[in-house]
Amino acid sequence: MFPLQRHRRLRKNDSIRSLIRETHLSPTDFIVPLFVVEGKGVKDEIGSMPNYYRFSLDLLAKEVKELWQMGLKSVLLFVKVEDALKDNRGVEATNPDGLMQRAIKTVKNAAPEMLVMTDVALDPYSIYGHDGIVDQGKIVNDRTNSFLAQMALSHAQAGADFVAPSDMMDGRILEIRSVLEEAHFTDTGIMSYSAKFASAFYGPFRDALDSAPVDVKDIPKDKKTYQMDPANRSEALKETFSDIDEGADIVMVKPGLCYLDIVRDIANEVEVPVAVYQVSGEYAMLKAAAAKGWLDHDAVMLEQLTAIKRAGASMIASYFAKDAVKLL
Ligand code: PBG
Repeated sequence: MFPLQRHRRLRKNDSIRSLIRETHLSPTDFIVPLFVVEGKGVKDEIGSMPNYYRFSLDLLAKEVKELWQMGLKSVLLFVKVEDALKDNRGVEATNPDGLMQRAIKTVKNAAPEMLVMTDVALDPYSIYGHDGIVDQGKIVNDRTNSFLAQMALSHAQAGADFVAPSDMMDGRILEIRSVLEEAHFTDTGIMSYSAKFASAFYGPFRDALDSAPVDVKDIPKDKKTYQMDPANRSEALKETFSDIDEGADIVMVKPGLCYLDIVRDIANEVEVPVAVYQVSGEYAMLKAAAAKGWLDHDAVMLEQLTAIKRAGASMIASYFAKDAVKLL
């Protein structure tokens, strides 16, 4: 007797394994998230994200040139806003000379072909750390949308290629698209965080931007009335279809690893590119385990990124982008 199938024939050595490999990572798979702060000469390591930094504009320019030379062609910008500039509606978010608007121009000056994507949500600008306007203990939907649309327009005017609404309000894609069209920003794209879960993996990011929901009486302490319940699956499709109907060019699932079933569901159903955000907590977990000597950093990193792509991601926003590209 012999086994009817000898699957191991196709695993015999590296040459045959590479010949039949289905998933390949390349520098063009990545979107690099970048944190920006005011100041000069600032390259400030984020405590819960080892080897990841907040950059002032001068050093942002340097970083972006380096990324471009490595073959990384898109960035996703986030700003850390000074407390004095925070309010309930994100007024500072539409300041034509605000940090985000200057960061967009800085990237375009440093690497003109770099694709610039920008986070659109109120949380870094909000005294409450919420993605929308807070009124009587609620995150109000429709009024928030008009602020988000003005924020997106301001990013487009500063030169953003794509705006990336990460707030999970209902109807914001349509409102943003309409405002962009009316202002003739017909070529500015929308990458929508369509299926964004109320995840505990965002902790280090909120440290990086000092944007966590505040612990104050009568203010919701979490984002569960707008971000999705991690227990749900079909809702992710509903959210994604809505965003595509409303004009999203790219849809996103976030976080990554724990949600790859959702990624596969969506990749099977939609005809637009699907992005995955491998979030700050995923980065922090691996860095911590590797620092302890408990996991092989590079091997685990590439395994995770490959799994995300295998699940159906056409692009990955990842804090590992630079680390990974060095190995490819
Ligand atoms: C802001 C935003 C968040 C992330 C991206 N955009 C945080 C949040 O929703 O609380 C998280 C990214 C990460 O954890 O890496 N709306």
